[in-house]
Formats: sequence, structure tokens, C-alpha cells
Amino acid sequence: MWLSVDPQIIPPKELVGMILDVDAIKFRANPINPININMISKIIPDHFYRLFPNSLTIGTAFVSVILCIIGTALYRRYKYFERCNKIPGPPAQIPLFGSITEFFLEPEGYLPHGLKLFRTWSKNSVIRAWIGPLALFAVGSAEGVEVVFGSSKMIDKSREYNFLHPWLATGLLTSTGRKWHQRRKLLTPTFHFKILEDFVHVFNEQSVVLVEKLNEKIAQDFDIFPYITRCTLDVICETAMGRHVNAQNNTDSEYVTAIYKMTRIVQTRQTRPWLQPDWLFRLFPMEAEQRRCLSILHGFTDHMIRERKIEQKQRQKDKQKQSESLLGDEYFSKKPRLAFLDLLIEASQDGKVLSDLDIREEVDTFIVTYQGHDTTAAAISWSLFLIGNHPKVQEQVSEELTRVFGDSDRQVTMADLSELKYLECCIKEALRLYPSVPLMARELMEDTTICGYDIPTGSTVMVVPFIVHRDPTYFPDPEIFKPERFFPENSQSRHPYAYVPFSAGPRNCIGQKFAMMEEKIILASVLRRFHVKALDKPENIAVLAEIILRPRDGVRLHLTAKIQK
Ligand code: HEM
Repeated sequence: MWLSVDPQIIPPKELVGMILDVDAIKFRANPINPININMISKIIPDHFYRLFPNSLTIGTAFVSVILCIIGTALYRRYKYFERCNKIPGPPAQIPLFGSITEFFLEPEGYLPHGLKLFRTWSKNSVIRAWIGPLALFAVGSAEGVEVVFGSSKMIDKSREYNFLHPWLATGLLTSTGRKWHQRRKLLTPTFHFKILEDFVHVFNEQSVVLVEKLNEKIAQDFDIFPYITRCTLDVICETAMGRHVNAQNNTDSEYVTAIYKMTRIVQTRQTRPWLQPDWLFRLFPMEAEQRRCLSILHGFTDHMIRERKIEQKQRQKDKQKQSESLLGDEYFSKKPRLAFLDLLIEASQDGKVLSDLDIREEVDTFIVTYQGHDTTAAAISWSLFLIGNHPKVQEQVSEELTRVFGDSDRQVTMADLSELKYLECCIKEALRLYPSVPLMARELMEDTTICGYDIPTGSTVMVVPFIVHRDPTYFPDPEIFKPERFFPENSQSRHPYAYVPFSAGPRNCIGQKFAMMEEKIILASVLRRFHVKALDKPENIAVLAEIILRPRDGVRLHLTAKIQK
């Protein structure tokens, strides 16, 4: 035993293997672990051993601790369950699986079913669903949205955004806390109206290419969605990096294909639980495909950053030369076309404020970003779908376009944009019925009361514009497309959180002015040349609520060329 103090003293052979009883403490004697019984009693007082619990006591204590932990967890769980169940929502049909069977549907069924559940259960505009053992809360009223979006504390994105991290790391869209605050402050000036003015020519140039492509489709039935997506991708790449990627002409460019593949991978991971843990994802071939795509995408942005930095240095040298030589040469005084990337390089102060990696995060965020091109593509396509379904609206749009542009085929100017008021109402109404971002989720950092319901810390709260925008209190006959709702006299007194296609509050869309300008210019360019007829009706179209709200079978249109007078 461990109490050997004198290696010289070994119990007699006959004692080996026997139990020695020393003052009620039992020892087994053996030659390797000899015991000096005298020493034991001398060094350690007997009552010390009585303090030691025996194995039964240890076992009982261990089991009691475990039972205590389980009991506390179950009690907390019960309290959580009780608390969440005070909020109306479908009951948990299967323990541990919750109300998940409500969502055993085809993807196009999610939004209509969600809307139905909401109307059945929601008394006060908040609904609870059990997704597995966790409660999920959805907010569908302007008053509830105000609590979520109006708060400066509820700015943490939910875990679905994590699958964008390998691509975007933690840029403006995906970051949180201090980093997000600093970036938002730094990037806000790059979306100033004056800077956006410089991008009008890009919107126009890419619209011209789009119209050329659409000319080839006259009098055919076709899906316009991919054409618009390639156009908005060209726009965002040129405005973000100052480079043509030529997606409209070169549909199988390596960079463009990598963007589409990566977008698909992120969306697949968001909807398949078994692809979500990184260690499991590594076992699937999709992970290798992701690595290939990322090497192309990051490689391209890195190359752009290096190139633009060299160009910027050259420009500075040229400027210096100009002031030294006093030439006033037209070449030197020509204003260079700046992209977001140039503004970021300037803001980086030679790496003191932003490293090259930080710049890449932000450029990729704008481009990828569903935010940068997919959202705008969806908004333009849905607008064409609705205008193509409503001949009277289309007539009014055409009248406005003729009033502003007459017979000329000149490009759209900044001044024209403020004249296209009715078109703007059509875009807003299309974003009401088909908000490009159909739902947004936040993680609650503290207990929060929403519409009178007490929602516990750590819960995920979703705002669903698709539902919020269909509240008959603010939008009577909500399913009807009526651009007039957005006439100033009809929208002035509306609740400010009743219409939130660009989110609202501190974490709203930084690119909304950019998006509205781009949409107006592309739509005006298409509708000046073509008459559009939608081939599907809103009541028959299948809508998918992915990160972006998409029509499952695209936006099928029939174009007729307008007669140029
Ligand atoms: C119709 C077009 C667009 C719509 C409907 C839209 C909508 C939104 C929405 C709803 C959010 C909030 C997302 C959330 O909270 O989870 C958002 C954020 C954002 N959007 Fe947009 N967006 C559009 C176009 C753009 C464009 C063109 C850009 C860039 C050029 C852009 C850049 C961003 C960024 C960087 C964020 C994150 C802002 C932050 O968290 O501080 N968006 N957008």
C-alpha cells in the first residue's frame, strides 16, 4: 500500500496476502508494498482514517451530484417549456422533435404554411414553434418588429450566417460587437449619395448589355431571372472592384461559376443539418469543392487588391508630377473612376486601419453577397413579374417613361431618377409582396418583452417581412399589387416598422440607396424598350424562401419590342 515508510521491513511471508486489521482499517500485506504497522500508527493518527469516506459513500455522493445536475436541468427545462408555451403556437407533437412535423413540406410550402400558422395562432403578433427541443419565435407585426430592429442590443446574427464565414470571414454582414460597430462607421461614408452618383454610368452600361441580350429573346417565352442576375453581378463587381467580370457575355467564366457554386454550397449547408458541423462537412466531397471555389474567389479579390493598390500609388505619383510641372494636362485632370475597393484602400491608411484581409472581407461581402447582387436581381425580377401581370400599371409606367425620356434613347441620369416616382412605387410594392430577404433572425442577449410576451435570453427571434408586409391593418387587401400604397399621401401615417424590406434600425441595409438607383435604371432601361407579359399568375407561382426569396421555376416572361417613334 502507499503507506510504506520503511522498505527494510517486510511482513513475514505468512502474512502476505492476508488482510491486516489495524484499528479497524484494513490493509492487504504483500512483499512489494510492505507495511510497517508501527510506523503507521506513529505517523498518522487513527482518527484520520475515519475521516476518509468508503467507496459506498463516494458512490452515493457521485450519484446524488449527477441527479442534482439532471434535476436542475430538467426543472430549468420545464420552466423554459412552461414560459415558452405561454406564447401561442402549434403544440410540440413529438417529444424532442417539437412541432417540426408542421414543416414536413415541399420547400415552396414553407411560406404559405407559415402565414397560415401565424394567422391561426398569433393573437398578439408573436408565434412560437418548437424546432426540436428549442423554441423559435417569429414576429409578424410592426409593433413587434420595432422592438427587435429598434434595439441597439439585438444586433447578433443567428447561426445560419456562420456558413458564410469561410467565404466572407467576418465582414460587415456577418460580424458583431465592436468589430461591426467600427466597420459600419468606416463604411457608411462609402455609400454616400455623392459617391453613388459616380456609379450611374456603370448601371447604364450594364443595362445596355442586358437590353442587347434581351433583344435576342423577343417574342419567345423565357425565364428572365438568370439574365437579370448576371447583369447585377456585372454591376456589383465593377462598382466594388472597378473591374469587368463580364458575366453577361461570358457565362462560364471561372470566377462567376465559383460564385454560383459557393452560393449553392452555403444554401445547401443551411438547409441540411448533417452538413452543418464542420467536422462532418469535411467528410463530404462538397468540402473539397468549397476549398476549390474559395481559392478562386479569394485569389481573384487578392489580385484585385494588389492591382488597385499599385494603380493608386501611380495616380498619387502622377498627381505630384502634375502639380510640379504645372501642366494642367487634360490627361492628369481627368477624374478616375473609383470603386468601393479604392475607397477601402484609402480608408485602410496603409494597413493601419484595415489589413488586406479586412479589405477582402468587405469587398467579398458586397459582391457575394446575396446582399450585393442576388437581392437586387430578385427585386428587379419580381417587379417585372408583377408589372407584367398588371397591364394598367404597365401603362402608367410607360407614360411616366415617355414623359421623362420622350423618344430619346439617352442614358438615365441622376436627375431622371427623382422623376421616376411611379416606377419607384412599383419597386416598393414588389418588395412588399416579395421581399428579397424573406426572413431575418436575431439572437436575444437578454430577456425581452415583445408584444406583451416574455421571451427568454438566448432565443432566436425571426422577423418575417413576407408576413409583416401582409398585415391588413397597414395594407388592406394585402395580396393585391397596388403601387399607389406608396404615394406619399398614402404612406405618411403608416407605422415606420410596417414595411421593412431593407431591415431597419442600426443593422439595416447599408446598400439600400445603391439598390434603389440600380433597380430604377435597369427597370427603366428594360421597360423603355420592351412590353412585358408575365406567363404565370401570382396565385400559381411557387415561391422558395431561401436566403433570397426566389420563384421556384423562374420568372417566365414574353417580351415584345416597343415601337420606337
Ligand atoms: C433590393 C436590394 C436589397 C435588399 C432587399 C437588401 C436587404 C437587406 C437586408 C434585409 C439586410 C439585413 C439583413 C439582416 O439583418 O440579416 C441587409 C443588410 C446588408 N446589405 Fe442589403 N439589400 C439589398 C441590396 C444591397 C446592396 C446592393 C448592397 C451592397 C452594395 C447591400 C449590402 C448590405 C450589407 C453590407 C448589409 C449588412 C449591413 C450590416 O449588418 O451592417 N445590400 N440588406
